[in-house]
Amino acid sequence: MDDAISRRTVLTTGGAAAIVGAGIGAGGVSLLGSPGRGPGLWTQPAGSGAQPVGGLHLQFGKDASSEVVVSWHTTDTVGNPRVMVGTPTSGFGRLVPAETRTYRDAKSTTEVRVHHARIDNLAPDADYVYAAVHDGTNPELGTVRTAPSGRKPLRFTSFGDQATPTLDRLKKASYRSDNLGSPAAGDITTAIERIGPLFHLVNGDLCYANLAHDRIRTWSDWFDNNTRSARYRPWMPAAGNHENELGNGPIGFAAYQTYFTVPDSGSAAEFRGLWYSFTAGSVRVISLSNDDVCFQDAGNFYVHGYSGGAQKRWLESELANARADTRVDWVIVCMHQTAISTSDHTNGADLGIRQEWLPLFDRYQVDLVVCGHEHHYERSHPVRGMLDTETRTPIPVETRPDVIDTSKGTVHLVIGGGGTSSPSNTMFFPQPRCRVLTGVGAVDPTIGCRAPRYVLEGAPWSAFRDADNAYGFVAFDLDPGPPGGNTSIKATHYAVNGPYGATSVVEQFTLTRPRRG
Ligand SMILES: [Fe+2]
Repeated sequence: MDDAISRRTVLTTGGAAAIVGAGIGAGGVSLLGSPGRGPGLWTQPAGSGAQPVGGLHLQFGKDASSEVVVSWHTTDTVGNPRVMVGTPTSGFGRLVPAETRTYRDAKSTTEVRVHHARIDNLAPDADYVYAAVHDGTNPELGTVRTAPSGRKPLRFTSFGDQATPTLDRLKKASYRSDNLGSPAAGDITTAIERIGPLFHLVNGDLCYANLAHDRIRTWSDWFDNNTRSARYRPWMPAAGNHENELGNGPIGFAAYQTYFTVPDSGSAAEFRGLWYSFTAGSVRVISLSNDDVCFQDAGNFYVHGYSGGAQKRWLESELANARADTRVDWVIVCMHQTAISTSDHTNGADLGIRQEWLPLFDRYQVDLVVCGHEHHYERSHPVRGMLDTETRTPIPVETRPDVIDTSKGTVHLVIGGGGTSSPSNTMFFPQPRCRVLTGVGAVDPTIGCRAPRYVLEGAPWSAFRDADNAYGFVAFDLDPGPPGGNTSIKATHYAVNGPYGATSVVEQFTLTRPRRG
């Protein structure tokens, strides 16, 4: 083993370099690379031909202050996948074996192997260093900060509808994106990393692999693009309609379910990972799978009602638990398809969400919903209750634009400008109106899916629409507030303006509610 080589590997691996380099020192290098003297965690690959660690990324466990999952993928079988983890001051002292889960892509017949190492018993609000490796390859390094325990400040971000900044080869050796991608899908990742949230909520439609000629390459490209951030902070996903892939599992989400190990919801195995929750500080995040309730036919095949009510039963129980837990102030839902939209010629809002989810959001005072599906940014006033009309129009309870009491109503944010080649910020109705998808008819061969039925409504709930910027995300800064007082979340909508993570602030507003403890 050549210490110089292992040291070079450590010191040239992105943002982890300084912290890891400082932490492991000479002892750490020997721990990594001297099987004769240490526990033999790694041996020099020496041209073994093993596939490298691909798409390294993190998820939080159910308690984000103590549990993290480290994941990466290969298409070859690999030996002894494992993660070495430690602290910046003590080095990689702990070895955690990874569990490998697989799926076989029905289109290419390629089997993808995703290696997941679950690391528990971590300390809250603490920095860790880790290295993921399997036999015959170099370790890939990352860092992670656990969530605080209790009422402490924290930051998170959200966007959806990203795609990839890469191209695919078409006939006659020409290249273009076949997954709705654009260069902005790369720029936004850099911007998130500059903001440096504790975690990022990916509100669905990750890479549009279900549209792509080569699904496997498209997933790989998405992880290659985002590992620049997702190896340092968990990107917690929600499944969108474009995660529904023909032939990949009974409901089409096998790829998504295999790439991510999200917190266990106790669901049946076939629904694993499609809905879940986790707690970070005083925030309970609930991630939903809206294809279960949406009427729109917008994936590779129609799966409306796939859980037979199981997700809704879980959601109600989860919301009741969250509101019974005095450690939780904020209940935030991350999902893909939306209950609100004021753009024309796009997907619109889905009545299924309004019928199935919004009464529960009302009953349990959900503070905030982040979603996408529409490729722009817009925000609702706080809403509670719905008009008794065909479209079940949500009722705004306040219209103050800058400070919003979410104990009175739920704020919905559409944050779908994550990077696709089809932004919809130029498609808003001049005056706020909403196309509500109220049902579907028979399959229309000209569009290849069940024909949607739309009903137009006024949109009294509309608070802000960003017609000027195609791409952006929202950062949320939580202030726990004083005991007996109010807690708040300052939301900042950033437009993404180019490479190197250039951003500009478009709007800011504050959510507030009484502390519960
Ligand atoms: Fe979508």
